[in-house]
Amino acid sequence: MKRKIVVAAAWPYANDSLHLGHVAALIGSDVLARYFRLNGDDVLMVSGSDCHGTPIAVTASHQGVQPLVIAEKYHNEFVKTLIGGLGFSYDIYSKTTTENHCKVVQEIFQKLYQKGYIYSKIEELPYCENCKKFLPDRYIEGECPICHFDSARGDQCDNCGNLMDTTKLINPKCKICGGVPKWRQSEHFFLKLSALQDKLKDWVSASKGWRINAKKFTANLLDQGLHDRAITRDIEWGIPIPIKGYESKRIYVWFEAVCGYLSVSKEWSISIGKKDEWKKFWENDKAIHFYVHGKDNIPFHTIFWPAVLIALGDLHLPDRILSSEYLTLEKRQFSKSRQWAVWLPDFLEKFDPETLRYYLIANGPETSDADFSWDNFQTLTNSELIGNFGNFVYRVLSFIKNNFPEGVQIQETKDGKAKKFLDLAQDAFSSTGSAIEAGRFREALRCVLEVVEHGNRYINDAAPWTTIKKDRSKAENDLAVAGQVIKCLAILIKPFLPKSSERICNDVGLDFSKIEWSYPSHNLIVISNISPLYKRIETSDIEKQHSRLGKTE
Ligand code: MF3
Ligand code: ZN
Repeated sequence: MKRKIVVAAAWPYANDSLHLGHVAALIGSDVLARYFRLNGDDVLMVSGSDCHGTPIAVTASHQGVQPLVIAEKYHNEFVKTLIGGLGFSYDIYSKTTTENHCKVVQEIFQKLYQKGYIYSKIEELPYCENCKKFLPDRYIEGECPICHFDSARGDQCDNCGNLMDTTKLINPKCKICGGVPKWRQSEHFFLKLSALQDKLKDWVSASKGWRINAKKFTANLLDQGLHDRAITRDIEWGIPIPIKGYESKRIYVWFEAVCGYLSVSKEWSISIGKKDEWKKFWENDKAIHFYVHGKDNIPFHTIFWPAVLIALGDLHLPDRILSSEYLTLEKRQFSKSRQWAVWLPDFLEKFDPETLRYYLIANGPETSDADFSWDNFQTLTNSELIGNFGNFVYRVLSFIKNNFPEGVQIQETKDGKAKKFLDLAQDAFSSTGSAIEAGRFREALRCVLEVVEHGNRYINDAAPWTTIKKDRSKAENDLAVAGQVIKCLAILIKPFLPKSSERICNDVGLDFSKIEWSYPSHNLIVISNISPLYKRIETSDIEKQHSRLGKTE
């Protein structure tokens, strides 16, 4: 039975270039989508650019341009780098500034308001008299009342990840002018999380297959008891509140961004000319929904969004929450303000995207923080990706091409070593597949690499370059076995390294667009064209990149 799989990848804020930390958090989404498609399941992989709210408004105000200018610029860059560069295979990648998104969000808001899950209330909020503005979210910083980090933002503390109640920030300051805010009354809409607490709790306790960080963080929030949260703001940039009398306010960016998973599924349905197709994924108990993001996104995906879905009723709740830990750069936090980052557009100008995919899957911050260092990047690429994987493939295929231009075919597999090798490759389909389904991408990739390591030993032991002189048919058989395993590898590697998969498929005569997640049939392997899969990374390539570390724009 074909399963319906939603892969919901986080929507990056369109206020700056992406850096490797973003890729580390998101790469798993593409592995999942590609794997399930190969496996014959129906996949809907959705995401887009998060274009509203204070993150974009504050950047625009610093740069003296309209928010839309910033949002469009980075949205276009994201499309180029994520899709064109890294090959992320979204079924749709949209943005929160579309008419469709606005309509869907306003409908959700209306429905929840009518059902009583949204209500309005007057609050005392920080207001900067100098800037003549209320100071929601990123317009304000202060000390976190929970962990005492000194630059917590108005809506969330970047250090402990806790959702902030702006009114509780210690020593708050205006992010634009540095002034000390005064307090003013303002009316806002609240999401009644308190009324959804019990249902959320039941759902969380019954859920399986979340990363441990998400489970713990969420359990902790629920134990503390949920408070109703404001879902509107006193700003101009965002989706208007669909109720008369609130024209000067907008819907809170996180409330509408998470609705994007649904709005964009509807947009996708319209784009393929089947306007109800989204229902097969969202109004379906049997669907499986994966959410992939960094750990600072946890509460929005495990409390906020499920609360909205429960309140709406009849829509599928998240199944697997895959929140990654942080990627550090040379052991230090990525930091835009300290100009400590490797920006994705810069990286892609210089290096093969496959090398980044490999590094960030093999060495990703899956269950604990991981580090990107240029030394380690060079070593892993040259020794593992090229030394083990690339060379195995190239060495076997070029030997076949040069010595058996008419091709090689497996004659017999009774020889213990050959059988063991082929069995190993066959078993890798299930071991790799289950690790991917469980969101354990490092382990999954390791399952594939074990086959490669075995392959290198197999071909060294078989030494066809010697055997061929005395027993040509033995050499042919050994090479055909290795060639068959390479066909398996061409498939097994596709979720991780799609371009490598395509190159190998072309080399061994598999139709890249038709391969499936299963052991391919044994047939004659003829190698017509072959070239090395990757280019070694030289120290001089790294040095040039190093000097650009500090570049922000
Ligand atoms: N823009 C947010 C961030 O970069 C992520 C939003 S994910 C969403 O942290 F899908 F919920 F929008
Ligand atoms: Zn100010």
